[in-house]
This record gives sequence, structure tokens and C-alpha cells, in this order.
Amino acid sequence: MAEKPLLAVLRGERRDPPPSWMMRQAGRYLPEYRELRASKGGFLDMAYDPDAAAEVTLQPLRRFPFDGAILFSDILIVPHSIGQDLTFVAGEGPRLAPPLAESRLEDLAPVMERLEPIYGTVRKVKAALAPETTFLGFAGSPWTVATYMVAGQGSRDQAAARTMAYTRPDDFDAIIRRIEEVTITYLSGQIEAGVDAIQLFDSWAGSLSPQQFDRWVIEPNARIVKAMKALHPDTPIIGFPKGAGAKLVRYAQMTGVDAVGLDETLDPEWAHAALPEGMPVQGNLDPMALLAGGAQLDAAVDRIKTALKDRPHIFNLGHGIDKTTPIAHVEQMINRVKGA
Ligand code: CP3
Repeated sequence: MAEKPLLAVLRGERRDPPPSWMMRQAGRYLPEYRELRASKGGFLDMAYDPDAAAEVTLQPLRRFPFDGAILFSDILIVPHSIGQDLTFVAGEGPRLAPPLAESRLEDLAPVMERLEPIYGTVRKVKAALAPETTFLGFAGSPWTVATYMVAGQGSRDQAAARTMAYTRPDDFDAIIRRIEEVTITYLSGQIEAGVDAIQLFDSWAGSLSPQQFDRWVIEPNARIVKAMKALHPDTPIIGFPKGAGAKLVRYAQMTGVDAVGLDETLDPEWAHAALPEGMPVQGNLDPMALLAGGAQLDAAVDRIKTALKDRPHIFNLGHGIDKTTPIAHVEQMINRVKGA
């Protein structure tokens, strides 16, 4: 079997140059994505069409020599299967109804079949992917998914969920536990259909105080990792608690994840010194440095590579690629990562 360098790094080995992929690599900065999306009508129609979603997953791999492919789907497929209505309003982002701030979890009727098309996408991608490419599945972490379920939409400060976590902790805990349960089913389904590793996206981990971070970020992720390790011990898990800052160290020590993602606000030299020895890290180019290009981009890539040269490292962005990023800048970044 061909070696998958990204998977080897997730298992704790060092590869030079570091393998790479990009968060949101399948998306709107690619003209071929925008074209397919226009013909399919909407984001959700595309995500639920395994042929289209597999095509979108593979699009960036046709252009760029990335080492990883990330499943094209969304973290909000889980609330959809828990029974909320899901729509993507053009220019405004996702809407989930009814919002759990004002309705009861018990009143939602689960629709688990909503997970099935995603497994179809995984099988199609798996059949088409080069043997050296690592296939990444994913889910949102319970806290981040709950922020959308409670408010019914995205928000700048996650106030609705943060308030509920203090005023109605039992109700909020029930929401978190339900997300955990479905996430374990969903990730297991992705693994059984063919993904090699998974990433847990906790995009709003940065909005919590330290005690709340322990309860709503570390504990739920630790329970998910424990369950996944019992079911699928050989599948590595990347945890990405965006905005965690110094709390990333506790997250890395306590959750049991195999690797952690660094967002662009973290100094990679600090991360190397502070994180457990030998733990693989992923990151952390500022998406705005990629957007800007030029000599600044090369310098930023070099700095990250140098800071993380003594541990297993997967080169990535600190968050998703901006949709206005020129394709030439992505090519420049990959060449620099590979040392060309
Ligand atoms: O390429 C990839 O990274 C894989 C696919 C992927 C998508 N969403 C596709 C998508 C992944 C991994 C996600 C995760 C996701 N979804 C997160 C966590 C990561 C992050 O960005 O913090 C979150 C918070 C969501 C929820 C979500 N989905 C929002 C807030 C939006 C609207 C954002 C916007 O800019 O309009 C989406 C839609 C979405 N998910 C798009 C894509 C490519 C854009 C849809 C489009 O208009 O074509």
C-alpha cells in the first residue's frame, strides 16, 4: 500500500517537507466550485448530492499537490439530523429552526437518514482518491454546534448559548450530550465509509471563560474521543479549538486527541514549547497572509516551518481560506512549503 504522508504525521512521525492541506480548500475561491454550486441551486443541495459533493471534495486535489482531501459537507448536518430545519440564506449564512433558546430539544423529531448521503460522498471520494492522499472526515465539536442550535444562526459573541449555559445548565448539558451521541454515530459512519482521519472543529471555543471551557469544550471532546477510540482505535483525531489561546495546552493534555490545530493568533514557537512533546500539530498560516501574497507570504510560511521543524507538523492555515484569495497565491504557498 502506498504511504500516506499526512496520516504518518498524525501517527506521530515527522515528514520533511511537512504534508499540507487547507481548511475550506473545497470552496468559493475556486471558479469550478462556484460554477457547480450555481448549477446545483444551493449549498445544501450540493452537500446532499453525493456525486456533486464528491466532485467538490476532489476539485482542489486536481489543481494542487495537497496531501489531504477534506470531505465536502458541513458541521450543521448534525443539527439537521437531530431534527432542526436547516437553510443557508445567501449572503447571511445558516439558519436552524426552531432555535433551542426558545423551544425544547425533546420536541425535535430526529431524522437520522439525513446523515446517509454524506456516507455516499465518502464512498465515492474514497474510490477516486490517489492512494497517497489522506482522506479527512470531520464534525463540529458540541460547543460550536450548540451555539448554532441555540441561537438558530451564527452570532459574533455566541451570547445565546453562553447565557443558556449559565442560566439553564441542565438543559444546555442535554443539548451537548445529544450532539455528542449523534456526532459519534456520524463520525463512525464516515470512518466505516472510508475516511482515514477526522477533525473536530470547535470554531467558537475562544468565547468561553476557563471554567466554561473545561465543561463545554474539554469534557465533551474528551468523551467523544474516548468513544471513538473504543470503536475505531486506529483512526487519528485532530482537535481544533479555535481561539483557545493558552487553554490549548490543557485541551491537548486532557481530551485525548492525537493532534491539535493551531489558529493564526498563536505563536508556533510558543506552541512547540508548550504542547506535549512529540504531539503532531497542524497550522497555522494567517489566511490574510495567503490573501496578500508576495514576500510576506513566503516569510510567513518559512517562519512556521522553522518553528515546528522538531515535531510532527502538518502545514495548514490558521482558519479557512478567504473566498477572494487568488489561486496563484495558493500555488506560491505550496511551492514554498515544499521548498521549491
Ligand atoms: O473545504 C472544507 O473545509 C470542507 C468543507 C467544510 C464546509 N464547512 C463547507 C462550507 C467544512 C469543514 C465546514 C465546517 C464549518 N461549517 C464550520 C467550522 C469551520 C469554520 O469555518 O469555523 C462552521 C462554523 C460551519 C458553519 C457554516 N457553514 C457557516 C457559518 C457557513 C456560512 C459561511 C459563509 O461564509 O457563507 C457555512 C456554509 C459553508 N460550508 C460553505 C462551505 C464551502 C459556503 C457555502 C457557499 O455559499 O457555497
